[in-house]
Amino acid sequence: MSRTIVLASTQIDMSYLLPTFAKLAPELDIRMHQEAPEHADTVLCWHAPAGLFGALPRLRLVQSIAAGVDHITADPTVPPDVPICRIIDPNMASGMVAYVVWAVTHRHRHFDQYLARQTQGIWQENPIVPTRLHRVGIAGMGVLGLAVASALAMLGYDVAGWSRGPKPDLPAGVMGYHGAGQLGDFLARSDSLVCLLPLTDETQGFLNADLFARLPAGAHLINVGRGGHLVDRDLLAALDRGQLGAATLDAFTEEPLPGDHPFWRDRRIVVTPHIATRTGPTVVVTQLLANLARLDAGTPLVGAIDRQRGY
Ligand code: NAP
Ligand code: GLV
Repeated sequence: MSRTIVLASTQIDMSYLLPTFAKLAPELDIRMHQEAPEHADTVLCWHAPAGLFGALPRLRLVQSIAAGVDHITADPTVPPDVPICRIIDPNMASGMVAYVVWAVTHRHRHFDQYLARQTQGIWQENPIVPTRLHRVGIAGMGVLGLAVASALAMLGYDVAGWSRGPKPDLPAGVMGYHGAGQLGDFLARSDSLVCLLPLTDETQGFLNADLFARLPAGAHLINVGRGGHLVDRDLLAALDRGQLGAATLDAFTEEPLPGDHPFWRDRRIVVTPHIATRTGPTVVVTQLLANLARLDAGTPLVGAIDRQRGY
């Protein structure tokens, strides 16, 4: 079947995928969203222009270049019967593991303080708290949360995960919590709280004043989910009160983070530019091609989300 695939983004230059398409599927008709023809049947995207999906009457598949699909579900013009797929990639999971292990150890082992002291030539040790005495909570125990939990548990951290439903097969040593009823107990034992939730109607604003009040005093917040999970002003107020001790943030409501945003100059906050992990072009194109073949064969798609749940 002849196909036309539209590469769409208002945030990044999607032409980085063209050499990979030329190598793996030279027969495909690939267009940038600025010249999307009405007969296009597939969109591969990261923050597509608003309304693009509704303008393509033959649309059969929307594929995210990312694990998150909130940039697609936010657009109500995706027809309800068109599948939306996310990327599933072991390398993406490794990247996320490396980032979160760095963020947890950076604070728990006081590297933030050592770096600050180095600028003044100060040689001073902090006591080492054994990993088993540092409790890490991971909100979101999906593809990425499970990989992170497993790695932190192997380092000896006291790890728990929180998900929507119960998880029967958690990595060794990881405690499971689920649902609103168990959220309080989960938070109360999270010296470091990692947000790896998808952004949905239910999780929007999850990281707010009420939640911070349920964490141990001085907790470290690590948000590698989405900016929409965090209520920015509540974070600043919780840091001011000492309810939170520090935050490491990789995702923001507005990206790039505006130059005058208070997070930039706050020494209690580490800001990284949404780099916790990425997927290379070969994985993206290979997964899209696999899904096109599966669409033709009528078999289940890789990474198809549940449109009702939003992830
Ligand atoms: P996933 O496999 O879809 O897992 C999502 C997890 O969140 C599941 O455990 C799910 O519970 C849980 N969850 C969803 N809604 C919930 C709710 N209302 N209450 C409690 N738990 C809820 O997602 P993933 O691949 O691990 O990725 C997670 C997110 O990470 C992505 O959506 C994206 O936003 C973010 N991300 C960020 C970067 C970065 O570079 N910063 C990179 C990749 C991904 P169940 O298991 O019960 O369904
Ligand atoms: C990146 O943020 C992703 O969702 O893959």
